[in-house]
Amino acid sequence: MKPNQIIIFDTTLRDGEQSPGAAMTKEEKIRIARQLERLGVDVIEAGFAAASQGDFEAIQEIAKIIKTATVCSLARASENDVRRAGEAIKPALHGRIHTFIATSKIHMENKLRMTEDQVVERAVQAVKWALEYTTDVEFSAEDAVRSDMDFLIRVFDAVIQAGATTINVPDTVGYSIPAPWGERMRELISRVPNSDKVVWSTHCHNDLGMAVANSLAAVMGGARQVECTINGLGERAGNASLEEVVMAIKTRADVFNLTTRIDTTQIVPTSKLVSTITGYPVQPNKAIVGANAFAHESGIHQDGVLKHRETYEIMRAEDVGWGANKLTLGKLSGRNAFRTRLKELGIELETEDLLNATFTRFKTLADKKSEIFDEDLHALVSDEFVSETAERFKLVYLQVASVTGEVPHAVITLSENGVENRAESDGGGPVDAAFKAIETMVQSGAELQLYSVNNITSGTDAQGEVTVRLSKGGRIVNGQGADTDIVVASVKAYLNALNKIQSKSERAHPQL
Ligand code: KIV
Ligand code: ZN
Repeated sequence: MKPNQIIIFDTTLRDGEQSPGAAMTKEEKIRIARQLERLGVDVIEAGFAAASQGDFEAIQEIAKIIKTATVCSLARASENDVRRAGEAIKPALHGRIHTFIATSKIHMENKLRMTEDQVVERAVQAVKWALEYTTDVEFSAEDAVRSDMDFLIRVFDAVIQAGATTINVPDTVGYSIPAPWGERMRELISRVPNSDKVVWSTHCHNDLGMAVANSLAAVMGGARQVECTINGLGERAGNASLEEVVMAIKTRADVFNLTTRIDTTQIVPTSKLVSTITGYPVQPNKAIVGANAFAHESGIHQDGVLKHRETYEIMRAEDVGWGANKLTLGKLSGRNAFRTRLKELGIELETEDLLNATFTRFKTLADKKSEIFDEDLHALVSDEFVSETAERFKLVYLQVASVTGEVPHAVITLSENGVENRAESDGGGPVDAAFKAIETMVQSGAELQLYSVNNITSGTDAQGEVTVRLSKGGRIVNGQGADTDIVVASVKAYLNALNKIQSKSERAHPQL
């Protein structure tokens, strides 16, 4: 690694997955991991192996596939967690175990019910267990932001002596502000013995909207690893956004004098993929990856940019991947061209049957929509994976009437475990009528928390991508659906969410 290089540690597949409803399947995680590798991240935190069998297998699969990035699993500082993480990363060319324990008084007393001595002893023990599997061991002091400085130094000294190679300082609750956070990093590096033998890392949450600013302050204080997520996804208000951190370091090289290995032209495609898979839309005014991030509305700005781009633009849209969504295929494209483009996008369909089914859907879409972009292919594949997985409810038939001056009405036929049922309903609009018709049949008792529609590409023939978030009995799930007809897309998303909420999969939460 070059001395002035920042290690980009992406935790979209772990902390990002802790966003409500963002839990991903193994296939979805693999698709994102491949794209993260293409983006050039140094470390992919692929999950939390002890959370569930599904997460364990996803990490293991990612560890087999990924070649250039380090594949990491999170583990609480317990023997079972560390060993699960160790087993999961075993196939990796470069594997890391990231173990953590809380070090703030409030966490130690109320959550862990452990003394300081016990926490130090457990942290050291966890690092030693991890070293049985890999030499690349990261230790995090959860809630470092509210931990006593002298105690933090004691813990970090002990885990470095035990063999930890990366020391992560998290602002778990998003409490910090930039200047003291940078100062805290500087003080730790100057006071912890052997601090030059390890990589110092920062991990910031966005509760006060300062995760990126705090991460950059930590970098100025000496951190050389930044933990972040695509689109700033993550627990509560999210984590530091990878694209903002990377572009700040690149655009303000005059201030940081640092580099990353990120291929910035892959930023927008990665953002879109993560948004499609997790069902978390990107707000239009989001820095770097929002639809308006490079749009100039005011006449003065437009005039300035036309005369000289740098008058109002500090970055070039094409440098972060805008406009990179290639017009890939059309209705005359054959199966081979289709398979090749999917491969280039990092999508490997495991069986010939899956490829054939996705190709058939592609042809149907190409009949409705003249230009097919990479984003369309991603949505298509997501849809195919959804219909391949065991689904209780499937859409068979939908008819909606929306006539000026009349009450919208929907008629729907669903198959429930293979048995068809029909229902109809009025509604405030066609989508409302369709959802109500579904509920007269299903009576799920779930509460609709979010409904959002985005067009995947531009134009009125674009596919609409719908996210539906449902909650029931404390479980929250996101359902997605895509179609050129947004009512159909909405129904697919609703059924996808219903199918998820009915499935039994339970996950442990790393921070509980
Ligand atoms: O926010 C946090 O403290 C974490 C740790 C597990 C690193 O996610
Ligand atoms: Zn976190």
